[in-house]
This record gives sequence, structure tokens and C-alpha cells, in this order.
Amino acid sequence: MKSGPVTIRRAVMEDAGAIARIQIKSWQETYRKIIPDAYFDQLSQEKREPGWRKSLAEGPVFVALDQTNEIVVFANGGPNRENDATEGELYALYLLKSHQGQGTGKRLFDHVLEDLGRKGFPSCIVSVLADNPSRHFYERFGGRLVSEQSIARGGKQLVEYTYRILFESSSDS
Ligand SMILES: CC(C)(COP(=O)(O)OP(=O)(O)OC[C@H]1O[C@@H](n2cnc3c(N)ncnc32)[C@H](O)[C@@H]1OP(=O)(O)O)[C@@H](O)C(=O)NCCC(=O)NCCS
Repeated sequence: MKSGPVTIRRAVMEDAGAIARIQIKSWQETYRKIIPDAYFDQLSQEKREPGWRKSLAEGPVFVALDQTNEIVVFANGGPNRENDATEGELYALYLLKSHQGQGTGKRLFDHVLEDLGRKGFPSCIVSVLADNPSRHFYERFGGRLVSEQSIARGGKQLVEYTYRILFESSSDS
């Protein structure tokens, strides 16, 4: 069922609470069958909001709003947190289920990649759980598997894949 058009804009500091709320909801929708419930029980908007305030101060966060001006999608990126920022990283891209499959994910993805490209990064990485079917979205848009690692979430060991996406101006791999 179509959920109607969304408006994309850069988030402002006042959006931190709404982003934290939608993050928890989209994580629940995405990971309920992958990560044990215990992990979700300890999440709260209050605990996550300060992290978003910090992210918003550091770089752009893009959001999409539905027709009632509720945030239903968020995405952000920045320097790679692992390898001395020699490339960019897509930190997060989450749509509520109700808004998936209408081209919005790709639009947000493009916003983040364009921002990273403008900042001079030749590529970006994105890490995603192997059990998350959304990882095929990154494969669809040029992501090449570069590593896999084991991570713990909610007391369970999970496999995480890291993909690299080369930007068009980049000629080597
Ligand atoms: C993955 C996600 C961001 C895609 O956004 P979306 O709005 O549903 O996707 P779009 O409608 O923009 O799709 C654009 C294209 O990608 C394809 N696509 C979308 N999801 C896909 C998937 N899981 N696997 C393969 N291809 C996919 C679409 O078919 C479409 O192809 P087309 O250009 O040939 O028509 C979204 O489904 C999502 O938020 N998933 C849950 C959260 C999540 O797991 N995020 C990633 C965590 S790192």
C-alpha cells in the first residue's frame, strides 16, 4: 500500500528527539527476528537523543517527512570511523516499513553519498548485518563486500558485512 509522498530535508537540532524515536521504531521493525528482545528493551528515546544531538552538530542528517510532517526516514554519513577517515561511511539509512519500496531509500542514499563525494571522499563503506535482507540494496548500488566480522547484540553473536561503494570519479579499487 502506498503511503503518499515524502519531503526530504536536512535535519535540525530540534529533530533529535523525533529521530531517536523513529530510530527505535525502525530498528524494532528491522531487527526483531534477528536480535534478541533484550536489546530493544533497554532502548529509549531519552537515552538515544543526546547521541543524535552530537551527530547533528558534527554533520548532516537527512530526514524525510510524511504529509503530517512526521519524520519517517533518516540517514547520515561522515568520515569512516575505523580507518582514519581515508574514506566516508554511511552510518545509517532507515525507513519505516510503511514508507519502503517507493524510491525514498535511494533518494536519501544519494543525498548522503553526494555529501561525502563533495567532501572529497573517494568511496564509502557501510556495515550491515548478514541476516538483514536490506544488505542487497547496497549490492544493487555497487557495494562490494570487503570484510566480515562478528559482533554481539543483545547477548547474541551476529555476522556483520562491510561493503565498499566507489564514487564515480574514483578509478581504482
Ligand atoms: C534498504 C532500504 C533503505 C531501501 O529503501 P527503499 O525506499 O525501500 O528502496 P527504494 O524504493 O528506494 O529502492 C530503490 C531500488 O533498490 C531496490 N531495493 C530496495 N530494497 C532492496 C533490497 N532489500 N534488496 C535489493 N534491492 C532492493 C528496489 O527494488 C529499487 O530498484 P529499482 O531501482 O530497480 O526499482 C529500506 O528498505 C530500509 O530502510 N530497510 C530497513 C532498514 C535497514 O535495514 N537499513 C539498512 C541498515 S544498514
